[in-house]
Amino acid sequence: MSAEENDRAAWFKGPWAKCSVLPPFKERPWRLVLLGAPGVGKGTQAELISRRLHGCHLSTGDLFRAANNGCRAGTPAVAEALRYMRQGELVPDSIVWELARERTGCIRCRGGFVLDGLPRTLAQAQALQELLNKECISLDAVLDYELPRDQIIFRLGGRRICEACKAVFHLTQCPPSVPDLCDQCGGRLIQREDDRPDSIATRLDAYQHLTMPLIEFYRNLNLLLPVSAIGSPEEVFARSIAALETAITDGPLRSRDPRDAIAGLSDHRENSPRNNDELL
Ligand code: AP5
Repeated sequence: MSAEENDRAAWFKGPWAKCSVLPPFKERPWRLVLLGAPGVGKGTQAELISRRLHGCHLSTGDLFRAANNGCRAGTPAVAEALRYMRQGELVPDSIVWELARERTGCIRCRGGFVLDGLPRTLAQAQALQELLNKECISLDAVLDYELPRDQIIFRLGGRRICEACKAVFHLTQCPPSVPDLCDQCGGRLIQREDDRPDSIATRLDAYQHLTMPLIEFYRNLNLLLPVSAIGSPEEVFARSIAALETAITDGPLRSRDPRDAIAGLSDHRENSPRNNDELL
């Protein structure tokens, strides 16, 4: 783990755990939500964004998977969550919220956050808004990643993750240097149980019916920033930063101090891909 990365101990293990790397103090930390269909690249972007803006990458999927590997093994709530996950279904709101609410410290963290996979239903979005209001915290933006369905299926089908450190690879798009071994820790690369074709279909269906309504929810709050997820991770990252920069200068983030502007990536701005078919 490099000095600029947080170990996310409090997120994975619960409120009693202390993170070994504390984020630098910032007067106005970034607080972002990433939306988008399964496999669109939210996890990949969350890593890049959190390194750049120093907010912690808080993924609910990683939280449940870590629990499965012993960080919080054995609680009935986690065992039930894993049953839903394996089938590609959403975990019930009550379980998700129980685990998220325990981690209010991560939401309050002085370094900010990049929420990946939460919220995923309207009930979760409303609960998150209530929690943020109670803590006197506001979201800066919701980045909504869009990608055609066939590319989503291609990305999910080729994904491999490190069994030990959870680093994400792709068989052809982001292959490891040594086949089947993690570049970061040497761990074994495996396919996620929910990346098999029947689970992928269930997850895409759940996304369309339960998560897509959040696009309207956040648009109404003037927080939504659509971003095309087509292209390499670096191109998508540049587009994400450009969307935030634009929102600071002419959009919903105008209230931020212009010194917060994230210089250096504005040349990568590209047009929105709204004219592509079947964007999810
Ligand atoms: P979660 O882990 O959040 O899965 P997901 O949303 O389905 O998203 P993924 O992790 O599959 O994809 P991603 O968008 O992060 O893409 P990635 O960067 O990995 O949740 C899993 C399950 O947990 C859910 O199904 C549900 O059961 C449960 N759950 C979690 N949160 C919940 C909640 N709040 N409520 C209820 N249930 C919840 O990239 C995918 C692949 O593409 C990788 O191989 C990567 O290398 C590659 N790739 C990424 N970007 C690019 C690019 N630009 N070009 C080429 N390849 C790329």
